Amino acid sequence: MRITKNLAIAAIAVAAIAMTSTMSEPVMAAMGEAAIEQRVKFMKADILKPFKAIKSFVKDGKGSAADVAANARKISAAASKIPALFPKGTHRGAYDEKMTRALPKIWEDWNGFKAATDTLVTESAKLATIADTGDAKAIAAQVGAMGKMGCGGCHKPFRGAKVK
Ligand code: HEC
Repeated sequence: MRITKNLAIAAIAVAAIAMTSTMSEPVMAAMGEAAIEQRVKFMKADILKPFKAIKSFVKDGKGSAADVAANARKISAAASKIPALFPKGTHRGAYDEKMTRALPKIWEDWNGFKAATDTLVTESAKLATIADTGDAKAIAAQVGAMGKMGCGGCHKPFRGAKVK
C-alpha cells in the first residue's frame, strides 16, 4: 500500500511539473518538495530496511536464508519503482542541497539512471534465487555484488555528497 501511495504522489508531482505553464511557482515548489520527501522515505523504508536485515544475516547470522530471499524480493519489487519517484526538476540546485542529494545528471542521463535501476532489480532477484538454495557463502558473495553494483552503481554517478 505504501508503494501505491508513493507512486500516486510522484505521479501528481510529474503531472504538476508537466503543467508548468499553468501552475504557480510556490505550488510547484511544494509538490517537488513532497516528491523529494517521499522518495527519501521510500529509499529508507523499502530499500535500506530490507537491505539492513539481509546484511545482519550475512554479518551476524540473524534470521534465515528464507528471510534473505523474502527481503531480496522486496528490494527487487521496490527498485523497479525508483524512476517514478524522480519527477523532472527535483534536483539538487533547484532544491536545497540539504534537502536532496539527487544530481541533475539523473535527468541528463535518464537512460543511464533507468539502467542503474534495472541493475538493482536484476541483482536483488539473483540474490533471492541464490538465497532459496540456503548457501550462506554464495549469499554473502551476492549481497556484496548487489551492494556494489546495485546501490553503488547508482549512488556513485547520480547521488551527490551528503551536506549537513
Ligand atoms: C537507480 C538509482 C538508485 C539505486 C539503484 C539505489 N539508490 Fe539509493 N538513492 C538514489 C538517489 C538519487 C538518492 C538521493 C535522493 C534524494 O536525496 O532526493 C538515494 C537515496 C538513498 C537513501 C536516502 C538517504 C540518503 O543518504 O540519501 C538511502 C538510505 C538509500 N538511497 C539506500 C539505497 C540502498 C541500500 C540501495 C541498494 C539496495 C539503493 N539506495 C539503491 C538512487 C538510487
